[in-house]
Amino acid sequence: MKHLLVTGGLGFLGSNFLRWYHRRHRRVKLTNIDCLTYAAGIDNLGNLRSSPEYEEHRVDITNGRRLRSVWPDDPVTVVHFAAETHVDRSLQDAQPFVRTNILGMQNILEMARRNPVRRVIIISTDEVYGATPARGKFREDQPLAPTNPYAASKAGGDLLALAYRQTYNLPINILRSVNVYGPRQYPEKFIPLFITNALNGRELPLYGDGNQQRDWLWVEDFCEAVRRLVNAPQPEHPIYNISAGNQQRNRDVAKTIMRLTDCSPGQLRPVADRPGHDRRYALNDRHFRKEFSWRPKTPWPDGIRKVTAWYRANAAWVKKRQRQSYRSYYRKQYHWRFDE
Ligand code: DAU
Repeated sequence: MKHLLVTGGLGFLGSNFLRWYHRRHRRVKLTNIDCLTYAAGIDNLGNLRSSPEYEEHRVDITNGRRLRSVWPDDPVTVVHFAAETHVDRSLQDAQPFVRTNILGMQNILEMARRNPVRRVIIISTDEVYGATPARGKFREDQPLAPTNPYAASKAGGDLLALAYRQTYNLPINILRSVNVYGPRQYPEKFIPLFITNALNGRELPLYGDGNQQRDWLWVEDFCEAVRRLVNAPQPEHPIYNISAGNQQRNRDVAKTIMRLTDCSPGQLRPVADRPGHDRRYALNDRHFRKEFSWRPKTPWPDGIRKVTAWYRANAAWVKKRQRQSYRSYYRKQYHWRFDE
């Protein structure tokens, strides 16, 4: 494999993956197509941007003409990360989600149809299945039943990708992951939001009763899963789930973060719930573990400690993200909840 094309490589998952992959495959050419949305940053890639193997194009995947103009001529393996990903924002305005996650997806698939590709890997999510019942785990053949606009847009993208795979016989695989956490995640998401607010003496807005469960996967374990899929000559299955086996209730995550940051108990604020909030996500990833001999290596206590230390040590990175647009999102999302 000689040329990897990554979309969304300046965001949280994409940048962590590019760093991880480049460290292990120094000679592979990397092309990154990213339009630098609010959640991305060029500083996420560190020195990698000055490496001779690296090329970057500031292109929005919803612009088919621009996408065509930068798409490489040689056969590439594509890892498609670019997406709008924050559930709460999709509840405020679903349109960017439909545009990027469905129309943008279709543009990527068209490029894959018209150009030589070795493989296209679509980064998807456990949210496409909807909430998992209190017991049990969803397998890849579970019918899709998304419950919020973000999840519905990802499900739409997945279905399009499967249709292109079937109709045009394209080498497409979908990877559906549980929640990923780690350094450089935009501070609107639960873990970085709670850490940064705790460190800054602000309130920690816990939605509803705080008994919702998520399965938290350390970002490097996620990256290694993607790397194995990228390097596989002929994956057996069209869709793979990956999970951490690390179910945590939100209020327990909050308590752990509060302990690690010496946060005052008064900072924890139970607030109005997220509408349509899925209580639990849990995936069966038997296929992936068996085929790729993969399993997560970072235990939760180590991961949550490391990520807390990272945000503590990178206050300047956080400050850069908490600009005007973050502040107005934050006001709209939380102030009425705090006032209730
Ligand atoms: O499950 C995979 C998904 O995980 C990804 O596909 C999404 O892109 C990613 O955003 C994430 O979705 P969640 O909704 O699970 O993540 P979030 O960090 O927004 O919330 C995690 C849990 O914490 C969820 O139960 C809601 C709760 N929460 C979140 C925020 C932002 C709070 O209680 N308070 C908050 O302020």
